[in-house]
Amino acid sequence: MNLTLKIWRQKDSKTKGQMVEYKVSDISEHMSFLEMMDVLNEQLISSGDEPVAFDHDCREGICGMCSMFINGEAHGPDRGITTCQLHMRMFKDGDTITIEPFRAKAFPVIKDLVVDRSSFERIQQAGGYISVNTSGNTQDANAIPIAKEAADKAMDAATCIGCGACVATCKNSSAMLFVGAKVSQYALLPQGRVEAAERVLNMVEQMDKEGFGNCTNTGACEIECPKGISLENIARMNREYLSASLKG
Ligand code: SF4
Ligand code: FES
Repeated sequence: MNLTLKIWRQKDSKTKGQMVEYKVSDISEHMSFLEMMDVLNEQLISSGDEPVAFDHDCREGICGMCSMFINGEAHGPDRGITTCQLHMRMFKDGDTITIEPFRAKAFPVIKDLVVDRSSFERIQQAGGYISVNTSGNTQDANAIPIAKEAADKAMDAATCIGCGACVATCKNSSAMLFVGAKVSQYALLPQGRVEAAERVLNMVEQMDKEGFGNCTNTGACEIECPKGISLENIARMNREYLSASLKG
């Protein structure tokens, strides 16, 4: 395949960026999207140009690093996958592909396609954990009965990889699907109930502090989420938040 790429280039967080056009040729349909980007970068390096900076780590849909907005969609045109799992067979010879960073006030661009998602880390630090006090009398976690449905839902919520596609997709740049998933994964389990009220209040407070928008129930986040995190998690977070607020 021969392709035209229109890519967001931005030197650093302070410099204004712009779309720049590149051509790549002989791209195999079996390549992953990131392998195609590697081909472009090798081409740029050989001609003495600066390669395109983009985030990636595992390249197998686990780490959540590969944040790219491809042809107007977070993680590109396929469903239930991350950018690193996107294959070039989703495109055809002669296509023009636009590639931009995930855009949101709380995800400032560091360089080219790399954005700063440390706002997610700070939300996690505000409550995305459980405290385990090992006094010597700690109960074996396996001895605590948990309903199958609750365990399954907690597991589903825990599959969120913190990629930020939900934020990039949302017209309000809301992080509620991410935070909803993180709150839910603990709220559904007895081990997470101990600090549940404090957790939801602190995580939501941090989310607001970071400048994410509110949820207006559009549902675009659920569609673009590579892990299929359900809107049900936002509803659960709202219920948790309301009951924690009423407890005062
Ligand atoms: S909820 Fe989905 S889209 Fe949002 S950060 Fe988690 S995995 Fe990514
Ligand atoms: S590089 Fe890890 S999820 Fe894509």
